[in-house]
Amino acid sequence: MTDIDTALESLTIEERIALTVGSGRWTTVAYPERGVRELWLSDGPHGLRRETAPDVSVPSTCFPTASALGATWDRELVQRVGRALGREAAALNVDVLLGPGINMKRTPLCGRNFEYPSEDPLLTGELAIAYIRGVQGMGVAACLKHFAANNQEQWRHSISAQIDQRTLHETYLRAFERVIEHAEPWTVMCAYNRLNGTYTAEHRGLLTEILRDQWGFSGLVVSDWDAVTDPVASIAAGLDLIMPVKDGATEALLAAVSNGALAQEAVDQAARRLLALADRTTSRGPATPLTDEELRAHHELAREVGRASIVLLHNDSGVLPLSPQTTSIAVIGSFAQVPVIQGGGSANVNPASPGPFLGALRQALPSAEISFAVGVRPDGESTETDVAQEIAEAVAVAATAQVAVVLVGSLPGHESEGYDRAHLELPGAQRNLVDAVIATGTPTVVAVAAGSAVLLGDWHDRSAAVLHWWFGGEAAGESLADVLTGSCDARGRLGETIPLRAQDVPAYLSYPGELGEARYGEGVFIGYRWYDAMELEVRYPFGHGLSYTTFEYEDLEVTTTAEGLRVEVSVQNTGARSGTDVLQVYCTAPPSLVRRPIRDLVGFEAVSVEAGVATRIFLDIPWKDLAYYDVAAGGWRCAEGDYRIEVGASSRDLRLSTAVAVPSWPVSASVLTDEGIDTEIRARTRN
Ligand code: GLC
Repeated sequence: MTDIDTALESLTIEERIALTVGSGRWTTVAYPERGVRELWLSDGPHGLRRETAPDVSVPSTCFPTASALGATWDRELVQRVGRALGREAAALNVDVLLGPGINMKRTPLCGRNFEYPSEDPLLTGELAIAYIRGVQGMGVAACLKHFAANNQEQWRHSISAQIDQRTLHETYLRAFERVIEHAEPWTVMCAYNRLNGTYTAEHRGLLTEILRDQWGFSGLVVSDWDAVTDPVASIAAGLDLIMPVKDGATEALLAAVSNGALAQEAVDQAARRLLALADRTTSRGPATPLTDEELRAHHELAREVGRASIVLLHNDSGVLPLSPQTTSIAVIGSFAQVPVIQGGGSANVNPASPGPFLGALRQALPSAEISFAVGVRPDGESTETDVAQEIAEAVAVAATAQVAVVLVGSLPGHESEGYDRAHLELPGAQRNLVDAVIATGTPTVVAVAAGSAVLLGDWHDRSAAVLHWWFGGEAAGESLADVLTGSCDARGRLGETIPLRAQDVPAYLSYPGELGEARYGEGVFIGYRWYDAMELEVRYPFGHGLSYTTFEYEDLEVTTTAEGLRVEVSVQNTGARSGTDVLQVYCTAPPSLVRRPIRDLVGFEAVSVEAGVATRIFLDIPWKDLAYYDVAAGGWRCAEGDYRIEVGASSRDLRLSTAVAVPSWPVSASVLTDEGIDTEIRARTRN
């Protein structure tokens, strides 16, 4: 019998039940005399929110949020963030860090998109794997959330995401499945919403049949906070820990076990998983406080990630990087003094050492005269007259400068947990400010601080350069100064499409839903998959981002192996300075039983290359990543045929292409010829 079994045996049924419900807002029940210790759970995905009182948390490093991590496309960098977060959690005896969030960005309006990496399951899954390996390498449990289909904040406690099975597996579960398979998170958090009519907190199909029986998850499932309405139904469905403490829950569970409505085995397995989690996290050993050196290193890591996430959308005038000989720069916008570094809600971090933009810019360009105007103050602080006055001040400093840098974006409170954005535009006065500054004729650089896509107005075409800054964490200002001055390459790539119009968004008609349901009628066609299928123009495509140097791809070779495809390609830095590219590999499948996207991301690699140097990249793509989800077969399937593999710098900048014959996979599946496909479609359509 293992120590866990022994510990379980020593507990009464009342005590086992008590382990399945929180003892407080952030803690679980303890039986010290039996060697059962209290576990501490804390937010959040981009920094530790260790509460010392309601809404008061200890200062912790505030890293760029998940959508910025998504824009780095860099597994190694993200793993280092995970490691740093795990270190800060361990230092404060936190056993479970409540992140990463990996829900798909079905609509850019979702208030929590800043907490999610991407509109693509592969990119999201791969970065989450890296993050979790980092956190759990420090003996702290990560918590993969929110399982599943929490893609909007509007009515999040009640909405039912109505999703067909193929879409559910291919789009909304795929990142979770990939992470469970490759990173083995120690915990998973269920979501608030319903899935096809059933609350995910009591959805047996999700929590047991898929998560455990199909995917082999062996860790603990925790509820989202106050997501449980029926404790008995939740524990019966496969939930293990109801958080936070919930009045009446233990009594209801005890009554259900006593009257046979709930099998004691369900309680035992939940309690056993909590004991196993305690065992796993105890292994990290005693907490040691962070040294000042570690805290400085974490701030520098936040700055490094910020630099790697900033996406240079266009630099048509070549105004960037700012030349050291630049003599006068007008900096406009309140974010220059107080950058917006994160979104609102449970992920909010009390930053340990925030750094300003202005100071960093002045340090980087000591010989430049840098003037400042506040631009338009955050909403609600200015009257129309004030705004006119503030814009006039901004115009005055811009008119006499060599370059103007305008910082705009989501105002504090604009993007948050608990509600969605009302629109995708910049706040009204900001658009007027940008227009007015550009109208001075001074080349104008616009940096947009937002956790998700923002529509770029008609000022875009008259700007000298535009960057998507994201919510860059406590070092957001320094990171932006680094990129603008060229002390590092611009290397971020969009993890989500920036559409031209709100109406072009796939969920435009079905969001936020009606009469309690959000029907995901666009199916697997979210993000670039939609814009490509609909042949829609976009402002900037998924994967887009400019560098300060140039890259070319050569010698694409694709071969088949027993496990899938091996893709080899050379990346050459053809410019005059070192830089980092993100090589992207997309696949177009042959016709099959189902309509498939024009192309799917199947591989990527962030690669740093010195000027004039070429490096050979190898990517292995498992068959499963080329497959679609066959509902009737209950699994993944590749139809036999020629698959087109394309390599590029974005989903719409594809530069090399080749076709490769792929066998039907898995081999157990019947070999389908074109005739066979027609026959099977007729057979299934008839049923
Ligand atoms: C919140 C969030 C979840 C968070 C939890 C604890 O409502 O949905 O992401 O980890 O509750 O704050």
